[in-house]
Amino acid sequence: MSLLPDLPGDGDFEQVQVLVDRASGMQAVLAVHDTRMGPAFGGIRRRAYGSVADATRDVLALASAMTWKCAMAGLPAGGGKLVLVDHPGLDREAAYRRIGEFVESLGGRFSTGPDVGTTDADLRAVCSRTRHCADPDSGGPGDLGRATALGVFHALQATARHAGLVLEGATVLVQGLGTVGGPLARMCRDAGARLLLADVDGQRAKCLAAELGAGLVDPDRVLETRCDVLAPCALGGLLDEAAARSLSARAVCGAANNLLASDRVGRILHERGIPVAPDFVANAGALIVGCLHQLHGTRVGDDRIVAIGQVVAGLLEESARTGVPPGEVALARARSRVAAVPHRLYLGGS
Ligand code: NAI
Repeated sequence: MSLLPDLPGDGDFEQVQVLVDRASGMQAVLAVHDTRMGPAFGGIRRRAYGSVADATRDVLALASAMTWKCAMAGLPAGGGKLVLVDHPGLDREAAYRRIGEFVESLGGRFSTGPDVGTTDADLRAVCSRTRHCADPDSGGPGDLGRATALGVFHALQATARHAGLVLEGATVLVQGLGTVGGPLARMCRDAGARLLLADVDGQRAKCLAAELGAGLVDPDRVLETRCDVLAPCALGGLLDEAAARSLSARAVCGAANNLLASDRVGRILHERGIPVAPDFVANAGALIVGCLHQLHGTRVGDDRIVAIGQVVAGLLEESARTGVPPGEVALARARSRVAAVPHRLYLGGS
């Protein structure tokens, strides 16, 4: 008998907890996946989940993915996540404050920060109640979007190189020009790439294209547009099997999580000789900066993020040598790093 028959995520979970605060309308679920490497890190996702069961499924998958992401980033940390059910009756500020109190009660076993649906204002409410949250202001780890963009940029360079391309003169199509895609586009332009930009927010795309001298692409035609490197920085699941068979790009690297709709997509691209940087390795910049600031109180230098490029290059080389798609190589490496450490619960520092 299983309480959660289609239990997603990987392996065991140390803690799965439903949090309810009737006064603010807060219903949230916390999952701590694995803390044998150190305290769990994971942002707060706010979404209009249909039920607590839906929210639980999402939080389990997200929390286990964070464990692998921390392991590949070489961080002394494990995976966790908190999801907040959005609904019209939610008193958002009070709900985030309550979450802050709850996170504080865990004494550092779980540290949190931004994720989809959680703004700087929401984080301020969390930070008003706990020390274990990334402060969006001057006391915090700094510009997390830039950190992610920097890691993706170096991963993208490594991926392009693996495909026999140099960025100078290559055409890079950036899809999604938000917190990560915007700075990434600037970095690619500074490296001499020719830019194509796409965003469903037409005004945003137009302004950035004018600033950077880039071409504009219809957001519905990203997959058919000819380019050398595709950099998806919008939503996950962009590449399905049909797209993988017809894609003209020679390399793929972006920030979007779960970029490939399935493992099969990764295998098709691999067979076609199109290297894909594993998303959870390429987009770890914000996690690295946020986690090390939380643990040591210091701001991390860029070299720690730049090193993501070497990690991606190593994964692509191993993939070429073994015939295993790069995403599968990265996941296997992350799992074996975690499995090599005896399992014990991190009980919190304070
Ligand atoms: P964001 O919300 O700031 O920007 C996303 C941009 O994509 C927006 O400009 C939006 O209009 C555009 N967009 C949405 N759907 C689109 C579509 N179908 N076609 C073209 N454009 C579309 O998000 P952010 O923070 O830049 O994150 C981008 C991706 O990277 C997300 O998948 C996120 O989960 C992932 N990520 C972000 C991190 C961060 O530090 N912000 C860290 C790790 C992953």
